[in-house]
Amino acid sequence: MKIIKPIKATYAASLVLLLLAGLVSQPACADSAGIRDEALLKTTDGGQIYAQICQGCHMPKGQGAIGAGHYPAFAHNPTMSSAPYMALTILGGRRNMPAFASRDPGDSEQESFIAPIWLTDAQVASVINYIRTHFGNDYKDAITADEVKALHPGSTR
Ligand code: HEC
Repeated sequence: MKIIKPIKATYAASLVLLLLAGLVSQPACADSAGIRDEALLKTTDGGQIYAQICQGCHMPKGQGAIGAGHYPAFAHNPTMSSAPYMALTILGGRRNMPAFASRDPGDSEQESFIAPIWLTDAQVASVINYIRTHFGNDYKDAITADEVKALHPGSTR
């Protein structure tokens, strides 16, 4: 019995080491997933999400662009009247618009020419509400994270 105790202690210590090793390697995983600024992407501030992710294609003032592709403007765009349409576009993508639905376990990789970026339902709601109250838009009906959740591709609700 006296021998078993130190063995148990060693076993426990090596478990702790294994756990630590796992924790230490996590930032490297996040890097390889292509997340540019983890802290910023944890925000639910619609303006910050827009500046970090969306304006690269839709331009800083939401004016859109026409060049190598057509990037719709958010200013004077009647489709912004439908928050669910926007949510479906952001969650599932649309032609050259990448999908941003947060990854469920078992999901296939994001099909996109940019590094995968995943948004939570709260972040999707927040950036929609930001767009719908900026760039000359003044829509009063905000969308909630739960409403976004119900619009996920494959959602049965
Ligand atoms: C890699 C470039 C790219 C990025 C990044 C991007 N979009 Fe798009 N987006 C597009 C393109 C291209 C379209 C047009 C899709 C089509 O052909 O209908 C589009 C369309 C949309 C539409 C539909 C507009 C309409 O009039 O039908 C919405 C809403 C939208 N994007 C929101 C966003 C939001 C919010 C973000 C940030 C989370 C974002 N997009 C990031 C390229 C991008």
